[in-house]
Amino acid sequence: MIDSSLIHKEFPQPEDLYYLNHAAVAPWPARTAEAVGQFAQENITIGAKDYPNWLAKEKLLRKQLQSLINAPAVDDIALVKNTSEAISIVAFGIDWQQGDNIVSSNEEFPSNRIPWEAQSRHGVEFREVAIQGQDPEQALIDACDKHTRLLTISSVQYASGLRIDLERLGTFCAQNQILFCVDAIQTLGAIKMDAQAIQADFIMADGHKWMLGPEGIALFYCRESAREHITLNQYGWHMIEQYGNYDLKEWTPAKSARKFECGSNNLMGVHALSASLSLFEEIGMDIIENSVLDHSRYLMERLAQDNRISLITPSKEQAYGGIVTFQVHDHDQNALHRNLLNENVICAHRGGGIRFSPHFYTTREKIDKSLEILSLSIRFN
Ligand SMILES: Cc1ncc(COP(=O)(O)O)c(C=O)c1O
Repeated sequence: MIDSSLIHKEFPQPEDLYYLNHAAVAPWPARTAEAVGQFAQENITIGAKDYPNWLAKEKLLRKQLQSLINAPAVDDIALVKNTSEAISIVAFGIDWQQGDNIVSSNEEFPSNRIPWEAQSRHGVEFREVAIQGQDPEQALIDACDKHTRLLTISSVQYASGLRIDLERLGTFCAQNQILFCVDAIQTLGAIKMDAQAIQADFIMADGHKWMLGPEGIALFYCRESAREHITLNQYGWHMIEQYGNYDLKEWTPAKSARKFECGSNNLMGVHALSASLSLFEEIGMDIIENSVLDHSRYLMERLAQDNRISLITPSKEQAYGGIVTFQVHDHDQNALHRNLLNENVICAHRGGGIRFSPHFYTTREKIDKSLEILSLSIRFN
């Protein structure tokens, strides 16, 4: 059970606001606003006098992210701007050969498509595999051949909400010497992830969705054995092994994933995301995941009872995460979406339907009320 007084304290959202949009940009918990407020206060009073404390916070955040994904070492964690930047570091860092291919799905968010498509200048093929069938993982596996260098996939698809069996893909990639890249932004903070169990080489996620943090600070996990495959394209004072030695002329890139951080980090974002993650630690990811999946299950059951609605998200166990997307027959989904927003049901129009994404703290009452507003919107639309 999640302590309801904690939820009230951390999420003082208005009674008549139904925030079902954590798959887009999520609200912060109160502690995150406090952390940013304190950081701002410190800046206007003593500036960076206590800079070592900021660095200690940065170190803490790396540890928190390591623990969130069960990475083998804190050295595997880099802090970057966003998911797209992390994917670009990988896409532009691999020594591609003419004829190589990259396997992915045909449902990816542009962040996990455009950096790979840009490798066509090296004669690299980007294979977008249809994953709408009975066995999406097998479809991805079948699309690989001896020229496949990398398989990249979102752990949960942003539009359909389809959740991928990462362990199965990771095992296949490991057995076939294929690099495995996971865009985890629609999972981290909602569903547990174990970097070692899934055998990922790269995992990336910005903080502003299910982790309830700000935009502009992201996790980039790079497995130690994969670090040597990535040629650096950004350099600066922060990424060298001899970090802090400003006079040194003979430098080498850091052995750790810090080598992907060219300059000063976003320390305001660091303070914010660290505060947000402390809430997940306090409650526990088991409880959070249960609650997120419970909401999705409940939403899908309720929506399936309405014959005017078709689910886009698969309702099979393990095949969904925190996203539930659906289509309302004979309705302009765009107009319906605008109507829901007008009624304070904050959701998204994605994948040709309406996307609801409540988080663990969303109450059942708010979900019921949103469904009631949806039903009324359908009737009067
Ligand atoms: C699957 C996925 N990847 C990436 C992003 C965003 O990327 P970035 O962190 O670069 O803004 C989104 C945002 O909607 C997304 O759904």
